[in-house]
Order: sequence, then structure tokens, then C-alpha cells
Amino acid sequence: MKPFELLSFRNPQALAQTAAVAWLEEVAKSTRAGKPYSVALSGGRIALDYFSAVVEASAHRRASFCNVHFFWADERCVPPSDPESNYRLARERLLDPLNIPEGQIHRVLGEASPEVAADSAAKELCSLALRDHNSLPVLDMVFLGLGEDGHVASLFPTEHANLPPKQCIYRAVTNSPKPPPERVTLDYPTITAARKVWMLASGTGKESALRASLSPSGTTPFAHVLHCRSDTRIFSDISTS
Ligand code: 6PG
Repeated sequence: MKPFELLSFRNPQALAQTAAVAWLEEVAKSTRAGKPYSVALSGGRIALDYFSAVVEASAHRRASFCNVHFFWADERCVPPSDPESNYRLARERLLDPLNIPEGQIHRVLGEASPEVAADSAAKELCSLALRDHNSLPVLDMVFLGLGEDGHVASLFPTEHANLPPKQCIYRAVTNSPKPPPERVTLDYPTITAARKVWMLASGTGKESALRASLSPSGTTPFAHVLHCRSDTRIFSDISTS
């Protein structure tokens, strides 16, 4: 198990507010340095709290997002206007309130097939992100949520058990146990390659998933992420006692 940081909170609002302020500091550092900044967003209920906290905190700080490019950690294969769309969630709760220009928004083509959307998303990410020594695109930040089964993005235990031999930048998922079944997700190597990964672990019924994931012998998708990279930061309102 590589080093990670666990920050505990009493409720989703406190978690979201602290993570939002910390992220704005990350973005500000990058803006001051005049560097482009790439972030991949997840969906889920905690994302609602988080996006609202970012919008509120950025208003107080007059934060600039002029150098921030938005990608997705995963997307459901539904049209962008669908209530299930992670893009729609982010558009309505984060991107529009922050007036992010279209050119900085790189949605996954949810209206396409998982395979076509995964290929297109990988090409778009690779066209903008720096590459590491394995020529993997390096995202500055990946935000993850935790599923009740220890899934992250749309990487599920069943998927993890039968990892296809060829790992990709984005992967097509056709049998998600969490509806809808067809999705696109960052694959493990791309999450590993990211400069920072912050897990927003929130919600009831996830105690065993988090405990299992933090175990050195853990086998959940989140455990796999923790084993593959250092310094993952976990913001959690889930009890691990
Ligand atoms: C998705 C999400 C998914 C989510 C977790 C946690 O598209 O479904 O990206 O990975 O982050 O399932 O979701 P909740 O915060 O709603 O429990």
C-alpha cells in the first residue's frame, strides 16, 4: 500500500467545503505559474455538494479558471441532456455557474457507443495533456467518488477481477452493475499517472468498502488505485472505526 492521506469530516458539506477551498488553491498555484491545468470529474451525489462548494468558494475568492481544462473520470453512455449524464450534472452545477468557456470543456460523447466514446475521449485528452515516460496523458487532478462496492469512476470489482490484457487511457464499460450499464471510464493507468488524485468518499453503506480499500490486502478498485500510486488524498465522512 503506498502512502495516502485520510481527512475525516462529520458530514458531506464540511467535506465538500474543505476539498473545494483546497482545490481552488491548487488551481490558483497553476494559474500564477501560467500553466494549463487539467482536471477529470466524477459523478455521484457527493459531486453535487462538491460543485456547489466550489462555486461558492470561488465567488469569495474571485477565482480564475482561465487555464483549467475539464475532462471526466467517467461518463454514462447517455445523451448530454440526459439526467443521468455526468456532463449535464457538471454543466449545470459547476461549469455554467463558473462561466467556463466551451473550449475548456472536453465532455465524453455519451451519445455514442462506449467504444467510440472511449476512443474519442482518449484522443482529446492526449491532444491536450502532457505525457509521462509511458506516454500516458498526465492529468493534474482526478476527482473520484467511492461506490458501495469500492468502485471508482466506472471501474467495478467485476471489471477489476477480469482486467482485459490491454489497458487503455479510457475504457468502454458495457456491463456496469451501477445503472446505466454502458459507460466510459478512465482506466487504471491513467488514474495512476495523474499528478493528484482526490477521493471524495461520502455516503451511508460504504463503511466496509472504505475499510476494505484502505487495507494493504484490499482488492477493491479503489484499493487498486491506492496500491498503484502515492499520495492519494481521501476526504471522507465515512466511519472506518
Ligand atoms: C458515476 C460516478 C461514480 C460515483 C460513485 C459514488 O458515474 O456513477 O462517477 O463513480 O462517483 O458511485 O457515487 P455517490 O457519491 O452517489 O455514492
